[in-house]
Amino acid sequence: MNTLILTERDVRDVLTMKDAMKAVERAFELHGRRAVQMPPKVYLNFDKGDLRAMPAYLEGHAGVKWVNSHPENPKRGLPTVMAVLIYSDPETGFPLAIMDATHITNMRTGAAGGIAAKYLARKDSKIFGFIGCGTQAYTQLLALREVFSIEKVLASDISERNAKRFVEYCGRFGIDAEVVDAKRACDCDVLTTSTPSRKPVVRNEWIADGTHINAIGADAPGKQELDSMLIKRAKVVVDDMEQAVHGGEVNVPIAEGVIKPEDIHATLGEIIAGFKPGRESGEEITVFDSTGLAIQDIATASVVYEKAIKEGVGTPIQFFEDRR
Ligand SMILES: NC(=O)c1ccc[n+]([C@@H]2O[C@H](COP(=O)([O-])OP(=O)(O)OC[C@H]3O[C@@H](n4cnc5c(N)ncnc54)[C@H](O)[C@@H]3O)[C@@H](O)[C@H]2O)c1
Repeated sequence: MNTLILTERDVRDVLTMKDAMKAVERAFELHGRRAVQMPPKVYLNFDKGDLRAMPAYLEGHAGVKWVNSHPENPKRGLPTVMAVLIYSDPETGFPLAIMDATHITNMRTGAAGGIAAKYLARKDSKIFGFIGCGTQAYTQLLALREVFSIEKVLASDISERNAKRFVEYCGRFGIDAEVVDAKRACDCDVLTTSTPSRKPVVRNEWIADGTHINAIGADAPGKQELDSMLIKRAKVVVDDMEQAVHGGEVNVPIAEGVIKPEDIHATLGEIIAGFKPGRESGEEITVFDSTGLAIQDIATASVVYEKAIKEGVGTPIQFFEDRR
């Protein structure tokens, strides 16, 4: 039996945002129904960064993502984040594929934002603000485009170059986009924050009633993008209770005592499964606190594997000697 090797190029060739969103929505629903296995991430910490193992099992799909974060890597000509995923057959444990998961991470993160906005944002949302116009902003935009007809993008970043590049990218889809400051970016129907900030980049008073916010950037203890009082004012939905309390957007407001874990409205999966309501009025402010779940990666990897097999993409190798 062969193991399929899938490079970043191969993954890019087969994976569409539509496919990623379908797989990730189902993964969240199963999470809401408590029908997944997802032990907490395991960390190895080094002077210059860390490595994390993220295993998961859902609906016949099993695997583990092994991903680093080394902020000084660009100086050495290497990306900050590189991810590899082993996709295994739960029947036998056989490694069906070893694939790049850097693109999978970006796509599944975008997919989560798009799905959260589908359940939480006002249906007539037209103006989309972005604070942080780096890697994640691009796949967030791709996913939001699947759900809404975007009339205007307001892009803000401490790097004007990054904001301009993102505005150009929006232009490729015929979207009217402009570079603005953070306050002006909040003048929107759906705001996406994807910065690595450790102090709020969004002030409570900048956000009007009825806004939905996808808070993507905070995924480790001490990270925070939104004013704690804004979290207190909003209906907060998390991807996973334990991960969010540990390192999501809610981690600082909880540590400060501004909110309690019981104040969190629901997980996204509970809303998708129909156990809890999503948006209930045009006036409420909703926040989706995304930390990134292993089930999103494995569900997306399953689609990549199935499509690669069907389309003959990738390089099969024989890992183990034949024992028959
Ligand atoms: N929730 C998830 O599943 C998930 C997945 C991937 C990454 N992330 C997190 O999202 C964040 C962004 O990741 P990325 O891959 O897009 O990184 P990136 O480095 O590609 O982009 C970050 C962008 O934010 C900008 N920025 C930094 N500080 C800012 C500030 N105070 N105000 C405005 N802009 C600012 C930078 O100039 C850059 O353009 C990181 O914190 C990362 O850990 C979360």
